[in-house]
Amino acid sequence: MDTPDLMLPDRIQEDLRTEILGRKVISYAQTGSTNDIALALAASGMKEGTLVVAENQTEGRGRRDRKWLSPMGTSILASLILRPSIMAYEAHIITLIGAAAVAQAIRSVTHLPAFIKWPNDVIVNGKKVSGVLTEMRTEERWVNFLVVGIGVTVNIPRSYLPAEIMDSATSLSAELGHDVSRIALLQEILRQLEHRYMKVKERKIDALMDEWKELSATVGRRVRVSLARRIIRGCAMDIDETGALLIRVDTGQVQRVTADDAVQLRADQ
Ligand code: BTN
Repeated sequence: MDTPDLMLPDRIQEDLRTEILGRKVISYAQTGSTNDIALALAASGMKEGTLVVAENQTEGRGRRDRKWLSPMGTSILASLILRPSIMAYEAHIITLIGAAAVAQAIRSVTHLPAFIKWPNDVIVNGKKVSGVLTEMRTEERWVNFLVVGIGVTVNIPRSYLPAEIMDSATSLSAELGHDVSRIALLQEILRQLEHRYMKVKERKIDALMDEWKELSATVGRRVRVSLARRIIRGCAMDIDETGALLIRVDTGQVQRVTADDAVQLRADQ
Protein backbone atom coordinates (compact mmCIF):
# COMPACT_ATOMS: atom_id res chain seq x y z
CA MET A 1 0.00 0.00 0.00
CA ASP A 2 1.32 3.46 -0.90
CA THR A 3 -0.05 5.54 1.98
CA PRO A 4 -0.07 4.39 5.62
CA ASP A 5 -3.33 2.55 6.24
CA LEU A 6 -4.25 4.50 9.39
CA MET A 7 -7.78 4.28 10.79
CA LEU A 8 -8.45 8.02 10.74
CA PRO A 9 -11.98 9.50 10.65
CA ASP A 10 -11.48 11.41 7.35
CA ARG A 11 -10.19 8.32 5.58
CA ILE A 12 -12.98 6.10 6.93
CA GLN A 13 -15.66 8.62 5.91
CA GLU A 14 -14.21 9.34 2.45
CA ASP A 15 -16.64 7.92 -0.14
CA LEU A 16 -18.29 5.79 2.58
CA ARG A 17 -21.86 6.22 1.28
CA THR A 18 -23.72 5.09 4.42
CA GLU A 19 -26.60 6.97 5.99
CA ILE A 20 -26.23 5.94 9.63
CA LEU A 21 -23.15 3.86 10.36
CA GLY A 22 -19.94 5.85 10.62
CA ARG A 23 -21.52 9.30 10.23
CA LYS A 24 -19.50 10.17 13.33
CA VAL A 25 -16.11 8.52 13.86
CA ILE A 26 -13.91 8.75 16.95
CA SER A 27 -10.44 7.26 16.61
CA TYR A 28 -7.76 6.39 19.14
CA ALA A 29 -4.15 5.35 18.68
CA GLN A 30 -4.62 3.28 21.83
CA THR A 31 -7.46 2.73 24.25
CA GLY A 32 -8.59 0.11 26.76
CA SER A 33 -11.52 -1.31 24.78
CA THR A 34 -13.44 0.42 21.99
CA ASN A 35 -16.58 -1.30 23.33
CA ASP A 36 -16.10 0.40 26.72
CA ILE A 37 -15.68 3.81 25.05
CA ALA A 38 -18.76 3.27 22.87
CA LEU A 39 -20.85 2.04 25.84
CA ALA A 40 -19.91 5.16 27.85
CA LEU A 41 -20.65 7.46 24.89
CA ALA A 42 -23.99 5.76 24.24
CA ALA A 43 -24.94 6.11 27.92
CA SER A 44 -24.25 9.85 27.67
CA GLY A 45 -26.56 10.16 24.65
CA MET A 46 -24.19 9.85 21.67
CA LYS A 47 -26.12 9.32 18.45
CA GLU A 48 -26.79 6.04 16.67
CA GLY A 49 -24.17 5.07 14.11
CA THR A 50 -21.23 6.55 16.01
CA LEU A 51 -18.13 4.49 15.34
CA VAL A 52 -15.19 4.15 17.73
CA VAL A 53 -11.96 2.74 16.27
CA ALA A 54 -8.49 2.16 17.68
CA GLU A 55 -5.11 1.04 16.39
CA ASN A 56 -4.49 -0.81 19.64
CA GLN A 57 -6.44 -1.96 22.71
CA THR A 58 -4.94 -2.73 26.10
CA GLU A 59 -8.14 -4.35 27.45
CA GLY A 60 -9.69 -5.76 24.28
CA ARG A 61 -12.21 -8.45 25.15
CA GLY A 62 -14.19 -11.16 23.45
CA ARG A 63 -17.06 -13.44 24.29
CA ARG A 64 -17.05 -15.11 27.73
CA ASP A 65 -14.55 -12.49 29.02
CA ARG A 66 -11.75 -13.83 26.84
CA LYS A 67 -8.96 -11.41 25.94
CA TRP A 68 -8.87 -10.08 22.37
CA LEU A 69 -5.25 -9.43 21.48
CA SER A 70 -4.02 -7.59 18.38
CA PRO A 71 -0.63 -6.04 17.66
CA MET A 72 -0.70 -2.24 17.07
CA GLY A 73 -1.92 -1.15 13.63
CA THR A 74 -2.67 -4.62 12.27
CA SER A 75 -6.39 -5.09 12.82
CA ILE A 76 -9.81 -3.58 12.60
CA LEU A 77 -10.90 -2.78 16.16
CA ALA A 78 -14.27 -1.08 15.86
CA SER A 79 -17.38 -0.50 17.98
CA LEU A 80 -20.68 0.92 16.75
CA ILE A 81 -23.51 2.46 18.75
CA LEU A 82 -26.96 1.25 17.68
CA ARG A 83 -30.38 2.18 19.07
CA PRO A 84 -32.80 -0.35 17.58
CA SER A 85 -36.42 -0.57 18.78
CA ILE A 86 -36.19 -4.24 19.73
CA MET A 87 -36.67 -6.28 22.87
CA ALA A 88 -33.67 -7.60 24.79
CA TYR A 89 -34.37 -11.20 23.76
CA GLU A 90 -34.14 -10.16 20.08
CA ALA A 91 -30.69 -8.59 20.43
CA HIS A 92 -28.97 -11.77 19.19
CA ILE A 93 -29.98 -10.74 15.65
CA ILE A 94 -27.49 -7.87 15.85
CA THR A 95 -24.60 -10.29 16.52
CA LEU A 96 -25.80 -12.48 13.64
CA ILE A 97 -25.95 -9.57 11.17
CA GLY A 98 -22.58 -8.31 12.45
CA ALA A 99 -20.93 -11.63 11.66
CA ALA A 100 -22.74 -11.85 8.29
CA ALA A 101 -21.64 -8.32 7.39
CA VAL A 102 -18.00 -9.11 8.22
CA ALA A 103 -18.06 -12.41 6.28
CA GLN A 104 -19.64 -10.80 3.23
CA ALA A 105 -17.27 -7.80 3.36
CA ILE A 106 -14.23 -10.11 3.52
CA ARG A 107 -15.59 -11.99 0.50
CA SER A 108 -16.19 -8.78 -1.46
CA VAL A 109 -12.86 -7.10 -0.67
CA THR A 110 -10.48 -10.09 -0.65
CA HIS A 111 -12.41 -12.89 -2.44
CA LEU A 112 -11.41 -15.19 0.42
CA PRO A 113 -14.02 -17.86 1.32
CA ALA A 114 -15.23 -16.37 4.62
CA PHE A 115 -17.88 -18.21 6.63
CA ILE A 116 -19.64 -17.68 9.96
CA LYS A 117 -18.95 -20.07 12.80
CA TRP A 118 -21.84 -19.91 15.26
CA PRO A 119 -22.36 -17.80 17.23
CA ASN A 120 -20.06 -14.89 16.48
CA ASP A 121 -16.86 -15.91 14.69
CA VAL A 122 -15.86 -15.42 11.08
CA ILE A 123 -13.50 -18.04 9.72
CA VAL A 124 -11.37 -18.41 6.59
CA ASN A 125 -9.99 -21.82 5.63
CA GLY A 126 -11.22 -23.17 8.97
CA LYS A 127 -9.43 -20.55 11.12
CA LYS A 128 -10.79 -17.54 12.97
CA VAL A 129 -10.16 -14.08 11.48
CA SER A 130 -12.87 -12.10 13.22
CA GLY A 131 -15.17 -12.00 16.22
CA VAL A 132 -18.22 -9.90 17.05
CA LEU A 133 -19.07 -8.89 20.63
CA THR A 134 -22.48 -7.27 21.14
CA GLU A 135 -23.14 -5.62 24.49
CA MET A 136 -26.35 -3.87 25.48
CA ARG A 137 -28.08 -1.82 28.12
CA THR A 138 -31.78 -2.39 28.64
CA GLU A 139 -34.76 -0.57 30.14
CA GLU A 140 -37.55 -2.84 31.30
CA ARG A 141 -37.36 -5.57 28.65
CA TRP A 142 -36.39 -3.23 25.81
CA VAL A 143 -32.96 -2.48 24.37
CA ASN A 144 -31.95 1.04 25.33
CA PHE A 145 -28.80 0.87 23.22
CA LEU A 146 -26.37 -1.66 21.85
CA VAL A 147 -22.69 -1.64 21.05
CA VAL A 148 -21.47 -3.97 18.30
CA GLY A 149 -17.74 -4.60 18.71
CA ILE A 150 -15.92 -5.99 15.69
CA GLY A 151 -12.37 -7.29 15.67
CA VAL A 152 -10.78 -8.43 12.39
CA THR A 153 -7.22 -9.72 12.20
CA VAL A 154 -6.10 -8.16 8.92
CA ASN A 155 -2.37 -7.63 8.36
CA ILE A 156 -0.31 -10.01 10.47
CA PRO A 157 2.20 -12.15 8.54
CA ARG A 158 1.91 -15.87 9.24
CA SER A 159 5.34 -15.90 10.93
CA TYR A 160 4.12 -13.29 13.46
CA LEU A 161 1.01 -15.22 14.50
CA PRO A 162 1.54 -16.52 18.06
CA ALA A 163 2.38 -20.25 17.98
CA GLU A 164 -0.36 -21.13 20.48
CA ILE A 165 -3.12 -19.86 18.17
CA MET A 166 -1.66 -20.94 14.81
CA ASP A 167 -4.01 -23.93 14.58
CA SER A 168 -7.16 -21.98 15.34
CA ALA A 169 -6.59 -18.40 14.13
CA THR A 170 -5.18 -16.62 11.12
CA SER A 171 -5.05 -13.19 9.46
CA LEU A 172 -6.34 -12.11 6.08
CA SER A 173 -2.81 -11.24 4.90
CA ALA A 174 -1.52 -14.66 5.99
CA GLU A 175 -4.21 -16.32 3.89
CA LEU A 176 -3.69 -14.03 0.89
CA GLY A 177 0.08 -13.53 0.93
CA HIS A 178 -0.29 -9.74 0.80
CA ASP A 179 -1.68 -6.89 2.92
CA VAL A 180 -5.29 -5.73 2.75
CA SER A 181 -6.54 -2.13 3.09
CA ARG A 182 -8.11 -1.94 6.54
CA ILE A 183 -9.97 1.23 5.48
CA ALA A 184 -11.53 -0.44 2.43
CA LEU A 185 -12.53 -3.47 4.50
CA LEU A 186 -13.99 -1.40 7.35
CA GLN A 187 -15.98 0.73 4.88
CA GLU A 188 -17.40 -2.41 3.28
CA ILE A 189 -18.28 -3.86 6.72
CA LEU A 190 -20.15 -0.64 7.52
CA ARG A 191 -22.06 -0.76 4.22
CA GLN A 192 -22.92 -4.44 4.62
CA LEU A 193 -23.98 -3.97 8.23
CA GLU A 194 -26.10 -0.91 7.47
CA HIS A 195 -27.93 -2.79 4.71
CA ARG A 196 -28.79 -5.57 7.17
CA TYR A 197 -29.57 -3.19 10.04
CA MET A 198 -32.17 -1.45 7.86
CA LYS A 199 -33.85 -4.85 7.41
CA VAL A 200 -33.91 -5.31 11.20
CA LYS A 201 -35.62 -1.93 11.48
CA GLU A 202 -38.13 -3.05 8.81
CA ARG A 203 -38.60 -6.35 10.73
CA LYS A 204 -37.49 -8.44 7.72
CA ILE A 205 -35.83 -10.93 10.05
CA ASP A 206 -36.58 -14.12 8.09
CA ALA A 207 -34.55 -13.00 5.08
CA LEU A 208 -31.63 -12.15 7.37
CA MET A 209 -31.75 -15.57 9.03
CA ASP A 210 -31.79 -17.30 5.62
CA GLU A 211 -28.77 -15.33 4.47
CA TRP A 212 -26.97 -16.05 7.76
CA LYS A 213 -27.50 -19.78 7.21
CA GLU A 214 -26.08 -19.55 3.67
CA LEU A 215 -22.88 -18.04 5.10
CA SER A 216 -22.79 -20.50 7.99
CA ALA A 217 -20.00 -23.04 8.40
CA THR A 218 -21.97 -24.59 11.30
CA VAL A 219 -25.50 -25.37 10.14
CA GLY A 220 -25.57 -28.73 8.33
CA ARG A 221 -22.31 -29.96 9.89
CA ARG A 222 -21.43 -32.38 12.65
CA VAL A 223 -20.36 -30.42 15.72
CA ARG A 224 -19.04 -30.94 19.21
CA VAL A 225 -20.17 -28.28 21.68
CA SER A 226 -18.55 -27.93 25.09
CA LEU A 227 -20.99 -26.70 27.73
CA ALA A 228 -19.98 -25.89 31.31
CA ARG A 229 -20.40 -29.48 32.51
CA ARG A 230 -20.82 -31.71 29.47
CA ILE A 231 -20.16 -32.10 25.78
CA ILE A 232 -22.87 -32.44 23.12
CA ARG A 233 -22.15 -34.15 19.80
CA GLY A 234 -24.44 -34.26 16.80
CA CYS A 235 -25.55 -32.53 13.63
CA ALA A 236 -26.22 -28.77 13.76
CA MET A 237 -29.60 -28.55 12.05
CA ASP A 238 -30.62 -24.92 12.31
CA ILE A 239 -30.71 -21.79 14.45
CA ASP A 240 -34.04 -20.82 15.96
CA GLU A 241 -35.60 -17.34 16.10
CA THR A 242 -33.67 -16.55 19.29
CA GLY A 243 -30.31 -17.36 17.66
CA ALA A 244 -29.89 -20.65 19.57
CA LEU A 245 -28.31 -23.61 17.76
CA LEU A 246 -30.49 -26.71 17.30
CA ILE A 247 -28.44 -29.91 17.38
CA ARG A 248 -29.76 -33.39 16.56
CA VAL A 249 -27.76 -35.52 18.98
CA ASP A 250 -26.89 -39.09 18.17
CA THR A 251 -29.86 -40.46 20.17
CA GLY A 252 -32.16 -38.56 17.79
CA GLN A 253 -33.29 -35.85 20.22
CA VAL A 254 -32.95 -32.17 19.30
CA GLN A 255 -30.99 -30.12 21.81
CA ARG A 256 -31.16 -26.33 21.91
CA VAL A 257 -27.89 -24.60 22.80
CA THR A 258 -27.67 -20.86 23.44
CA ALA A 259 -24.56 -18.76 22.82
CA ASP A 260 -24.36 -18.13 26.57
CA ASP A 261 -24.22 -21.87 27.28
CA ALA A 262 -21.63 -22.80 24.63
CA VAL A 263 -18.06 -22.60 25.91
CA GLN A 264 -16.58 -23.94 22.67
CA LEU A 265 -17.84 -25.31 19.37
CA ARG A 266 -15.75 -27.53 17.11
CA ALA A 267 -16.29 -29.49 13.93
CA ASP A 268 -16.73 -33.16 14.83
CA GLN A 269 -15.68 -36.15 12.73
C1 BTN B 1 -15.01 -12.76 20.16
O1 BTN B 1 -14.48 -13.36 19.22
O2 BTN B 1 -15.25 -13.33 21.23
C2 BTN B 1 -15.40 -11.31 19.97
C3 BTN B 1 -14.19 -10.43 19.81
C4 BTN B 1 -14.57 -8.96 19.68
C5 BTN B 1 -13.35 -8.07 19.67
C6 BTN B 1 -13.71 -6.65 19.38
S1 BTN B 1 -12.29 -5.66 19.02
C7 BTN B 1 -13.26 -4.23 19.08
C8 BTN B 1 -14.21 -4.38 20.26
N1 BTN B 1 -13.58 -3.98 21.51
C9 BTN B 1 -13.42 -5.00 22.34
O3 BTN B 1 -12.91 -4.93 23.48
N2 BTN B 1 -13.89 -6.13 21.79
C10 BTN B 1 -14.45 -5.90 20.47
